[in-house]
Parts: sequence; structure tokens; C-alpha cells
Amino acid sequence: MENLKKYLGLLLVVCTVLVMLPEASATRFIVGGNMGWSPNVNYTNWVKGKHFYFDDWLFFVYDRNQQSVLEVNKTNYETCNTDHPLHNYTTGAGRDVAHLNVTRDYYFVSGNGFCFGGMKIHVHVEKAPPPPQVSPVKAASSTLSSSGHVLVLPLVFAIGAAWDALIRFW
Ligand SMILES: *[C@@H]1O[C@H](CO)[C@@H](O)[C@H](O)[C@H]1NC(C)=O
Ligand SMILES: *[C@@H]1O[C@H](CO)[C@@H](O)[C@H](O)[C@H]1NC(C)=O
Ligand SMILES: *[C@@H]1O[C@H](CO)[C@@H](O)[C@H](O)[C@H]1NC(C)=O
Ligand SMILES: *[C@@H]1O[C@H](CO)[C@@H](O)[C@H](O)[C@H]1NC(C)=O
Repeated sequence: MENLKKYLGLLLVVCTVLVMLPEASATRFIVGGNMGWSPNVNYTNWVKGKHFYFDDWLFFVYDRNQQSVLEVNKTNYETCNTDHPLHNYTTGAGRDVAHLNVTRDYYFVSGNGFCFGGMKIHVHVEKAPPPPQVSPVKAASSTLSSSGHVLVLPLVFAIGAAWDALIRFW
């Protein structure tokens, strides 16, 4: 009975460790915050002080009857030329999302002339920051999880605990 309690206790610890595994924390930005993707927002100022990392997301919320979301290159961003978009994110719902899946500079503008009024945004996407320092156990599991072996460490614990329980019963 004591052994069973010990085993269950260990199992609880294992589960806790699993739950507390640091998550890859991708940030979802709503472009323009409360103002969304609209005229009369200075997106250069909105971007200032923010860090955009690999795997983050940009949400564009806007009036689908007027604006759009086009990714263009630097030259066309500066001149508001929307004739050759690199990517058209406009789906028609007025709610579009861009996954920043490459570490580089991104340039988005709105079509229908709104770019000239300031509806343009440049974000510099940085490499993901190093994971925060954590306690040894969690550090070990995060190392394992980043190499795709999330279950290995808890499994080792569980097998060890079961073995321990068996030995003591006999
Ligand atoms: C952007 O694309 C245009 C063609 O649409 C091209 O003339 C220009 O050189 C490109 N600029 C950059 C920075 O790649
Ligand atoms: C982008 O896609 C939307 C929806 O398919 C379409 O209405 C719009 O004309 C496209 N814009 C450009 C510049 O390709
Ligand atoms: C990044 O996302 C874009 C848009 O969804 C997609 O076209 C492109 O293939 C993706 N690139 C990589 C490297 O996954
Ligand atoms: C945004 O604000 C900055 C500085 O406050 C200014 O230099 C820039 O011209 C503004 N951009 C637009 C599109 O109004």
C-alpha cells in the first residue's frame, strides 16, 4: 500500500512536469491593436518597441469592403505599388492572418489606395529568443521536447517507479 502511494505520488510528479513543459510561445499580434488594420493609424509607431520573432502571427482585422492585405517587397512598399504582390493574404472575410514563418523583413500594404494614406507596415522578424532558464528537471525535459522526444523523460520516471514498486512488493 505504501508502495502504491509512492508510485501514485511519482506519477503525479511526472504529470506535473509534463504539464509544466515550457511551450513554444508564438505571439499573436493584432495589427494596430484596438484600431486594427485601418486608415489613420501610424503603423511605424505601432511597430516601435515590439519584437517580432520567427513563428509569430499577425492578425489583420479590417473592413473587408474597403481594405486588403497584400505582401509586397521593399520597393513596392515604399512606392505603394500593389501591382505585383508577393502574397495576397486577402480572403474576403476582413480577418486575415499572416504566419511569420521566415526570419526576414516583411512588408504589408492595403490595396485600393489605402497604402498612400499610411496603411502599410514593415516588420523585421528575428530569430526566436533562447528559451528562459529553468530548473534542471524542466530544462532536461525541454531539451528532450525540442528534439521531439517529449515522452521519453516521463516514461523513464514511470518505468522506474513501477519497477521500484514491484521490487518492494516482492
Ligand atoms: C520589387 O519588385 C519590383 C517588381 O515588381 C522590382 O522592380 C524591384 O526591384 C523589387 N525590389 C526589391 C527590393 O526586390
Ligand atoms: C487578392 O485576393 C482577393 C480575394 O481573392 C481579390 O479580391 C483581390 O483582387 C486580390 N488582390 C490582388 C492585388 O491580387
Ligand atoms: C510561409 O507561409 C507562406 C504563407 O502561408 C507559405 O506560402 C510559405 O510556403 C511558407 N514558407 C515556409 C518556409 O514554410
Ligand atoms: C509616423 O510617425 C513617424 C514619427 O512619429 C513619422 O516620422 C512618420 O512620417 C509617420 N508616418 C506616417 C505614415 O504618417
